[in-house]
Amino acid sequence: MLKLFGLIGCPVHHSLSPLMHNDAFQSLHIDAHYHAFHVEPHMLKEAVEGLKALQCAGFNVTIPHKTAVMEYMDELDETAKQMGAVNTVVNENGKWVGYNTDGEGFVRALCEQMNIELSGARILIIGAGGAARGIYFTLLKHEAAAIDVCNRTMEKAEAFIQKERSAVYSLEQAEERLGAYDIIINTTSVGMYPHVDTMPISLQTLKTGTIVSDIIYNPLMTKFLQEAKEKGARVQNGVGMFVYQGALAFEKWTGIFPNTKRMEQLVIQQLG
Ligand code: ATR
Repeated sequence: MLKLFGLIGCPVHHSLSPLMHNDAFQSLHIDAHYHAFHVEPHMLKEAVEGLKALQCAGFNVTIPHKTAVMEYMDELDETAKQMGAVNTVVNENGKWVGYNTDGEGFVRALCEQMNIELSGARILIIGAGGAARGIYFTLLKHEAAAIDVCNRTMEKAEAFIQKERSAVYSLEQAEERLGAYDIIINTTSVGMYPHVDTMPISLQTLKTGTIVSDIIYNPLMTKFLQEAKEKGARVQNGVGMFVYQGALAFEKWTGIFPNTKRMEQLVIQQLG
């Protein structure tokens, strides 16, 4: 019997998830279909109940429902609880179980695509929103030497960091000490289309060879990544995180980890 998967969000018309998942189902000969559902915030409860009534096998959750959807879950995985957000839901024998693959997706993409290990690395996260928290808590599980956070609103970062492993800086302070980091990650929306001429921080003190990653994938090369590259950094855009969070969701639904290179090619083809 054909299995139904989906995405709920608002808006979702631009989402590349249906393309990526349906191609993976087809190439693996899995009888399933993934559909993007536009769900207004006031209809979230009805939508989640409706998907259960339809015996939907699982779904992704995107903006603005990642936190609100938690109260409609029958169970929550520890990572999702810690992040305070769910991006992947699995129908486990009629129970909705909420997971979050965003942080793990970012870290897997970083390590596999840039071919690096995190042990001993000094890492700076720019931003302290939902995406930053997901990435932060996943990085904590690795043996990084430091995972510092800088944010326009410093209190937001102070609210979730673990003081033994991390320090919090203002954006201006961070700009002065970029040379202290091996890996710098932008998790803010600064530089995203249509504001392509903006940067979260200036890169004057960046040292050659630093790894600079931006979770934005529209545009594929943000001004931040362009400047980092010009300064001799190794750069990575947000396509990797998008693909790996999807691949990890796919694995939770089917037990199979799909071909991420194929997914990435599809996504870049659409965006490029
Ligand atoms: P998400 O859940 O996608 O991470 P979010 O929770 O809205 O989104 O977080 C957005 C992040 O981008 C925050 O760190 C925010 O800084 P504040 O905490 O000070 O609001 C950051 N951000 C957004 N616009 C910014 C701007 N113009 N300059 C600096 N930081 C900005």
